Amino acid sequence: MIDQGAGRSRVLVIEDSQADQAAYRRTLREFDLEFADSGESGLERLALGRVDLVVLDYHLPRMNGDEVLALLRQGNPELPVVFVTGGGSENMAVGLLKRGASDYVTKDDLHTPRVASAVRGALERHRLDRARRRAEDELRRQKDELQSALRKLQEAQAHLIQGEKMASLGQLVAGVAHEINNPLSYVSNNLAVLDRDVRQVAGLMADYRAHFGDAVPPAIREAEERIDLDYTLTSLDRLLKSTRQGLHRVGEIVAGLRDFSRLDEAERKPVDPNEAVRATVEMVRYQARQKGADLLVETAPLPSTWCNPGQVNQVLLNLLMNAIQAVEAGGTITLRTRSLPASGEIQYEVADDGPGIPDAIRGRIFDPFFTTKPVGVGTGLGLWITYNIVDQHRGRIDLETGPGRGTTFTVTLPVRRPEDPE
Ligand SMILES: Nc1ncnc2c1ncn2[C@@H]1O[C@H](COP(=O)(O)OP(=O)(O)O)[C@@H](O)[C@H]1O
Ligand SMILES: [Mg+2]
Repeated sequence: MIDQGAGRSRVLVIEDSQADQAAYRRTLREFDLEFADSGESGLERLALGRVDLVVLDYHLPRMNGDEVLALLRQGNPELPVVFVTGGGSENMAVGLLKRGASDYVTKDDLHTPRVASAVRGALERHRLDRARRRAEDELRRQKDELQSALRKLQEAQAHLIQGEKMASLGQLVAGVAHEINNPLSYVSNNLAVLDRDVRQVAGLMADYRAHFGDAVPPAIREAEERIDLDYTLTSLDRLLKSTRQGLHRVGEIVAGLRDFSRLDEAERKPVDPNEAVRATVEMVRYQARQKGADLLVETAPLPSTWCNPGQVNQVLLNLLMNAIQAVEAGGTITLRTRSLPASGEIQYEVADDGPGIPDAIRGRIFDPFFTTKPVGVGTGLGLWITYNIVDQHRGRIDLETGPGRGTTFTVTLPVRRPEDPE
């Protein structure tokens, strides 16, 4: 063997008898040998650096082999140790193996090849053990990698399906909104004219009655009673008012649908993302005050990013309105911004201390027209539009909520520059 140092195993023999040391020099010639003549000096030598295996005499001054082994294991949990015991004690040998010795030989074997073969065997087992552990680690790492790849695939798939659904819904919605918008506008105009005309006719009717009083012919009086003219005249006002409200509501829904379908016409430019905060907070401050809620704003400096500012305003507006509607008088809404330089992202966070969103509906709040609010308050379009805007900006929206814990929506957007690919 022409091996020089690195290839040869370094064996430390802890043995107090000079005669025995001489025997090891002969039988373990194939290894790089070092000697220590006490447990203490052996442990000191181990602390200094690489040793591949220890041959440990059980009977040492001051400490026995068990004590040395226990101390040695503290710093070298895997170092192979071959024990050399006084002859004959099988029980003790079995005990040593149990406590982590690799093998043992007896003093009777000292001059035989048995010592070298025990050392070789222990080194080989150790090598195999290490290789097995490395293979296991590698296997575990690959399994983790596969699992995370699978998870990513599943997410991507869900995202694709969602995107597909949204795209076709978007087209449908744009069409429907357009179709409703035309009749809506002439019905609204007609209603305004009708309102004016009906009031004029009612006024004229009142004039007739004042003028002719008792002189009205019985046939006409009968007709008046048949249609209950007094009631009809008073309820006209109410009817017109509620019709106006109904139309207004239809208008709001159509506007919401149009906002959604216009998402494609995104016009983007670089903006300070905190600008959206200032613009939107002004819009909702009044509503918050009316509710008796505190609106706190904590902005951090943010990098300028390429986005559609109108849409980002809309996201914040929707989240803030929901938060204001959720809290009690005296509640608090907090709008925070945060920069995540490590991932190149920014965050908007809208937190409220309202009742939270029950588990049972959490999966549906982003669906179009899903609302738990009374007619006239909610259209159920806010979060749907919000989701889509965030999605189009390649961002994500996360939700933290629970009964008594309030609700926190976090919108994370990538910081994008004009030259970034779409
Ligand atoms: N901050 C919030 N706290 C509690 N519930 C909320 C909050 N935000 C949204 N929700 C729930 O999600 C539903 C859908 O919200 P959204 O799409 O904005 O429609 P809308 O506000 O018109 O009802 C709401 O009706 C409400 O039940
Ligand atoms: Mg809403």
